Amino acid sequence: MGSLLIKNGKIVTATDLFDGDIYIVDEKIQTLGARLDLKADKTIDAKGCFVFPGGIDPHTHMELPFMGTSASDTFESGTLAGLYGGTTTIIDFAIQSQGKSLSEALTQWHEMAKGNAVGDYAFHMAVTDFNEKTKNEIKDVSERHGIKSYKVFMAYKGALMVDDRQILQLMEETKKFGGMVIAHCENGDLIDGLVAKNRTAGNLAPRYHVLTRPPIAEAEATGRFTDLAYSGEYESYVVHLTCEESLQRIRLATQRNQKVNVETCVQYLLLDESLYYKEGFEGSKWVMSPPLRKEKDREALWKGINQNLIHTVATDHCPFCMNQKEMGKNDFSKIPNGAPGIEHRMELMFSEGVEKNKISLNKFVDVTSTAAAKIFGLFPRKGTIAVGSDADLVIFDPKEEHTISAKTHHMNCDYSAYEGWKVKGKCKTTILRGTIAIENRKALVSKGFGKYLSR
Ligand code: URP
Ligand code: ZN
Ligand code: ZN
Repeated sequence: MGSLLIKNGKIVTATDLFDGDIYIVDEKIQTLGARLDLKADKTIDAKGCFVFPGGIDPHTHMELPFMGTSASDTFESGTLAGLYGGTTTIIDFAIQSQGKSLSEALTQWHEMAKGNAVGDYAFHMAVTDFNEKTKNEIKDVSERHGIKSYKVFMAYKGALMVDDRQILQLMEETKKFGGMVIAHCENGDLIDGLVAKNRTAGNLAPRYHVLTRPPIAEAEATGRFTDLAYSGEYESYVVHLTCEESLQRIRLATQRNQKVNVETCVQYLLLDESLYYKEGFEGSKWVMSPPLRKEKDREALWKGINQNLIHTVATDHCPFCMNQKEMGKNDFSKIPNGAPGIEHRMELMFSEGVEKNKISLNKFVDVTSTAAAKIFGLFPRKGTIAVGSDADLVIFDPKEEHTISAKTHHMNCDYSAYEGWKVKGKCKTTILRGTIAIENRKALVSKGFGKYLSR
């Protein structure tokens, strides 16, 4: 491997901002300081640039088999796209099939990722069928696979959804091994009723996706999930929270001194439901669950970040190409749910968040990297710039302007959710465990470079 010296950067962590140099030996940061006079195999001058910890996206779905098709990014293409955008680690979901075991899902996900991922990766375990057999697997999932976060879906009945009793039992079992339950909060029964009614009435266009998944469906499930966690004093994490009503449930939970970790996604901070009303089938590009919301919700989410009610900003990266979206051409309920996003999370959060004074630089680092590392047991190996940490770094030019387009992105998806967006700030160089992964818009690492992170 060797040594690498990054000089003259503005180093930013979740708590600090200082001018300095970073000396890396092999995979780790060895020395931090001002004007380091050390010999290195390679030196990078980061003058005029920020140096951030590599991004951590705690919510992705590479190759997810879902709604009759599979997400179009593999672990190879998806993690590589992440590296182009400064994300060096993902936490993906190994999802149990109902009627099958957790270990079968883990075997499948390890096979998909191992030897393919370019960036580092960990897994959450999604439990869709909690029974005596599943219960007996939790120890092994925790101790052998190093997985501490267990996801439940409160929607997608018949495929992924579990009931409250299963959630409670899972909370009880995983706590024994230092684990935490994390949840997709939407009331599946309420949604299914609305979907059935609209399909019967012949309301089949993409916009009926948002009309059948109202904020109350999310808020009710968010409140119920946090109540279940409160009942047994379990720590919990709400994935992809989208709206003011749900945030209000979180606020209520914190008022009784409950600890709830909360994630939103970049699309819920930047896009809104008007996109579903575009001409023809265009709106299908943003069909995801929960759906995009209103402007007032976006405002509430930015405020929630600054009030420390929302801790992480993920992507829920789950891309489908247009020919896959067309499975729902004549019926919105058959449009595969999900959208691409991993490549531009960091740049969008900088451009729309820091540049527009919605969040500070330190908060930017916290929500895109540090908080996820802390919540999911990767800190301080990942998520910060410190002596002894993995040298996962992004050299970021805050002045460079560029335009997002499917023509130039690296995600395996034939459209961008942000087509034509002008962005200020660019990831120039991405370093993963001391190796330059991306430089001058070129990848210097390939398939299999990514390591599995046991937590
Ligand atoms: O629409 C989405 N979010 N697709 C991926 C699965 C999920 O619900 O997270
Ligand atoms: Zn979800
Ligand atoms: Zn998801």
